[in-house]
Amino acid sequence: MENLAEAFLGLSREDFSLLGAIETGMRTHEWVPTFIISKLAGLSASKSEYRLQHLFEKKLVVREAQHYLGYQINFDSYDLLALYDFVRRDQVKSIGERIGVGKESIVLGAQGYASLAIKFHRQGRTSFKHVRRLRDHLKDKPRVPWLYAASLAARREYQVMEKLYSKVSIPRPVAISRHALAMEYVPGPLLNRITLEDPEDGLRLILGEVGRALGQGIIHADLSEFNIM
Ligand SMILES: Nc1ncnc2c1ncn2[C@@H]1O[C@H](COP(=O)(O)OP(=O)(O)O)[C@@H](O)[C@H]1O
Ligand SMILES: [Mg+2]
Repeated sequence: MENLAEAFLGLSREDFSLLGAIETGMRTHEWVPTFIISKLAGLSASKSEYRLQHLFEKKLVVREAQHYLGYQINFDSYDLLALYDFVRRDQVKSIGERIGVGKESIVLGAQGYASLAIKFHRQGRTSFKHVRRLRDHLKDKPRVPWLYAASLAARREYQVMEKLYSKVSIPRPVAISRHALAMEYVPGPLLNRITLEDPEDGLRLILGEVGRALGQGIIHADLSEFNIM
């Protein structure tokens, strides 16, 4: 999305109800029929249709009209729903620029009680293999894998961060909604951008952190100069 904050401000409370209704409906329907959306959103059929058309033009919903008219949300509207949650819970007061792009995420700066970074997970968009493997172990197979994969990844990351942040030098996790994880902002450059004056001392520091994480039963599976600040 070009500008999350702008898109956010362009939506009404009813739009958020409709997006939330589609999200709920996607647990049972791959494409959520209009009558279910309006019921879940608590809005009249005509109002729902009108607002859904509006959301479709803004590219915040996807639709299919093979057997019936059905809707899905996409990653952009999923981002907006998560942000809506953070704002409603007073955890985020303003949102800033994109400050990073990960292998499977987008990270934005934000303000809450302190400077924050919000990591929007994007798992499942490019690689379905991993998701399929996960899915095979589940009784209730999710109908829309990306939505499930991204929120599961965020939840796992949040749990590990909660467990480690008091002992290991990682950002403090602040809030989670769906696939979005808000944490404290870490100032400073990534290790791949700088040359250390004393690399051996740097290595000692890093291995110290690795050791403390291991003490908590956690091994970082992707430790590289791109993941150290
Ligand atoms: N708490 C944070 N404070 C500042 N920048 C961050 C923070 N978290 C992530 N970033 C930036 O976003 C980039 C991607 O985040 P990362 O967690 O590595 O994503 P991924 O797991 O998808 O690789 C990082 O390399 C960094 O530049
Ligand atoms: Mg990374």
